[in-house]
Amino acid sequence: MSNISLLGAGLVGSLYAATLHGHRRRDEIRTVYSRSLKRAASLAAKHRIPRPTNDLTDAICDPETDVVIVALPNHLHEQAVVAAAEAGKAVLCTKPLGRNRAEALRMLEAVEQANVFHGYLEDLVYTPKTLRALASVQQGDLGRILWVRSREAHSGPHSEWFWNKELAGGGAIVDLGCHCIEIARSFIGKEVRPMEVMCWGDTQVHPIETEDHAIGVVRYETGAIGQFEVSWTFRGGMDLRDEVSGAEGTIWLNHWLRTGYEMYMSGATSQYVAEKSEANQGWLFPVGDEVAALGYPNMFTDMLDSIDAGGKPTESFYDGYVVNAIIDAAYASLKSKQWEPIDLSDWRGQQSATRLAERQEYDEHYYLVKEERMPDGSIKRILQHKQSLEIIEQQQ
Ligand SMILES: NC(=O)c1ccc[n+]([C@@H]2O[C@H](COP(=O)([O-])OP(=O)(O)OC[C@H]3O[C@@H](n4cnc5c(N)ncnc54)[C@H](O)[C@@H]3O)[C@@H](O)[C@H]2O)c1
Repeated sequence: MSNISLLGAGLVGSLYAATLHGHRRRDEIRTVYSRSLKRAASLAAKHRIPRPTNDLTDAICDPETDVVIVALPNHLHEQAVVAAAEAGKAVLCTKPLGRNRAEALRMLEAVEQANVFHGYLEDLVYTPKTLRALASVQQGDLGRILWVRSREAHSGPHSEWFWNKELAGGGAIVDLGCHCIEIARSFIGKEVRPMEVMCWGDTQVHPIETEDHAIGVVRYETGAIGQFEVSWTFRGGMDLRDEVSGAEGTIWLNHWLRTGYEMYMSGATSQYVAEKSEANQGWLFPVGDEVAALGYPNMFTDMLDSIDAGGKPTESFYDGYVVNAIIDAAYASLKSKQWEPIDLSDWRGQQSATRLAERQEYDEHYYLVKEERMPDGSIKRILQHKQSLEIIEQQQ
């Protein structure tokens, strides 16, 4: 059981509080910090948190606190993490870990040098659907993973600091791409080294300095590709989708829109529908349990169970650092319009991965390239001769 100090009473802080205090859980947020005492007090009242404060140091150093959760804007993560590490507290930090690789590396070093527990709050790898899909992939149901496509798109974030390049560290890539990159990395295998990135991005709609739309491709050492698609220009709600393609199978996940809950409202009332929903009349797509659909309960269970057991969570600051390194390469590519290498001076995964050619035996002379049943019921086979490499076709 943990006593928690929550830093930040904004959108994600309130989702974390709703998760941690929403069910009959053992862990308790004892202190909540916000710049504005009124805001801290309002979140505290809603979620039965005994101590609201506007003093960051008090919130971190509270002697009753075992775990500090950082739910502050991106430019404040490092300062809060370093202070928590110096105070000897376990620290959980929301995404993105840093605004860039260097900042993330300093945070990783701070928690490792202080020898405190650290967890990276990347919720979207913990959604119930994602956990099930990851289990399928890990038991080999899809064969070798070749391509993961992860998409997060909505009409833009809800607070001013996200739109400020300096405070946020970038635009849609650092804000949303961090999720997509870690989702793809989880399916491809975190032990596989991400090598280089090719990225396109542009400022298509909003009058800002950063990209509000981007597409990137991350090449892994096995030859697998992680594709991220992010946008602050998408209209119609929040589009959260993942696709996993393996040599033996495919998974498609839709997390937010059209998940099976559809509702019509005439417009006579004005209600909240779901995060980033742009409409509240006509046919709408609410979400049954928002925090569960976003993975927060499973994420905190992993984090807090790992603290109790003295173990490591699925997502640590090291993962946040790898994600930031990939994002830095994406920004470099966006500028250069070339493939850019990923700078991972601290790489802890496999040292080298072999690219396995998928050769399926057909008989002693041929490999099977492809087999398909045709409209007339016959079976067509494309075969490759093992010595000459000639491609032939057979119909039966
Ligand atoms: N799915 C997710 O995991 C998820 C979702 C949303 C946001 N986030 C992350 O959570 C963090 C906070 O985002 P949010 O959406 O809650 O933002 P928000 O703007 O809704 O809330 C930010 C909080 O920090 C406080 N704050 C803002 N500027 C401050 C300053 N200069 N000094 C001290 N406090 C300040 C605000 O008062 C508020 O309490 C960001 O890093 C964001 O990327 C994660």
